[in-house]
Amino acid sequence: MADQSKRWILMTTAQTPTNIAVIKYWGKRDESLILPINDSISVTLDPDHLCTTTTVAVSPSFDRDRMWLNKKEISLSSDRYQRCLREIRSRANEVEDEKKGIKITKKDWENLHVHIDSYNNFPTAAGLASSAAGLACFVFALARLMNVKEDLGKLSAIARQGSGSACRSLYGGFVKWNMGKNDDGSDSIAVQLADEKHWDDLVIVIAVVSSQQKETSSTAGMRECVETSKLIQYRAKEVVPKQVADMEAAIKYHDFPSFARLACSDSNQFHALCLDTSPPIFYMNDTSHRIIGCIEKWNRAEGSPQVAYTFDAGPNAVLIARNRKVAALLLQRLLFHFPPHPDTDLDSYVTGDKSILQDAGLKDITDVEALPPPPGIKDNIPALKYMGDVSYFICTRPGRGPVILGDESLALLSPETGLPK
Ligand code: DP6
Repeated sequence: MADQSKRWILMTTAQTPTNIAVIKYWGKRDESLILPINDSISVTLDPDHLCTTTTVAVSPSFDRDRMWLNKKEISLSSDRYQRCLREIRSRANEVEDEKKGIKITKKDWENLHVHIDSYNNFPTAAGLASSAAGLACFVFALARLMNVKEDLGKLSAIARQGSGSACRSLYGGFVKWNMGKNDDGSDSIAVQLADEKHWDDLVIVIAVVSSQQKETSSTAGMRECVETSKLIQYRAKEVVPKQVADMEAAIKYHDFPSFARLACSDSNQFHALCLDTSPPIFYMNDTSHRIIGCIEKWNRAEGSPQVAYTFDAGPNAVLIARNRKVAALLLQRLLFHFPPHPDTDLDSYVTGDKSILQDAGLKDITDVEALPPPPGIKDNIPALKYMGDVSYFICTRPGRGPVILGDESLALLSPETGLPK
């Protein structure tokens, strides 16, 4: 190892996207290895709008492994973090940085400690899946720091042991998590179906729905569901295999009507399983149901689906529009039915890719309340409005997989102290 008295610090910073499942993972056959009872498919979201950035650092001066999340120190003692750390450490290789005069041998890694600093570019409190991006970034960044030679598939199997849905965040675009058959989980890995450029017409609008309710975590929810629902095994064995095959074909052929029908029905089926759990779990709320009603009505009126909806373990709606034109109409409708409080400006109400606002002709609107009904909504029918039921919207699109940020100024840890900047 390099001269210990120099107290060198070596760092890597990575950025990893989050993902939204369009065929849901729900239920484990092995709780500790996190092996699912069915395959699932997701769309990776553009990291410009939703991602985790993680800096990992190693130094002989660190006396223990430490982690910070969104500026606060958190414990690394959970089985999930420990398992991921162990799996990555056991695959570490020699690392040499001639410029800094650092040489770490394979054996050195057993005694060196790491600092990990992670940051989400979206509010964690919003109930958006942050664990997927977080665990994927944890594994990806550590693997690069420790010069782990495994391919993304193998890394996905390690990220899976941190949080199931994290394995799908190792790739951009459209991703499938193969449930696998092996007891050791070696074949339970994620594969990329198509990259983000394959279907770049799609626009995604997330409605962050206001909620006071304390939610049941996905982990607890799916455990209770496996233990008590009579429907869950039927879904896993009889329904999902065909849905997965049909979804793969819809993605391959850019078949939006099939994509939308499958995504909506799979989401509804997942929430039906939650109701079939004892005691029942309610992830969606009245606002979620109103959004579904609004999309269903619109899709029916158009004769073929324009927008797909899907909901994870919470009330937020993820809406996938078939193209930018439809996305602009969608935003008009959403703002009409769910206007912001008068003290909230449009700029902070619609976040992410604001060019959709421009397309919708809403860029410079100051009084959202006074907007006329969007096309297709009749003036003579009193429109239902739910001010304040949506906290804000995020406009985004399918996005790329993890990347290493080479620019050292983007690191979250100080190169001098190895502590958060
Ligand atoms: C509803 O991956 O959060 O978002 O594996 O226990 O960490 P653990 O659960 P998690 O579950 C995600 C469930 C879901 C559906 C999905 O992403 O496929």
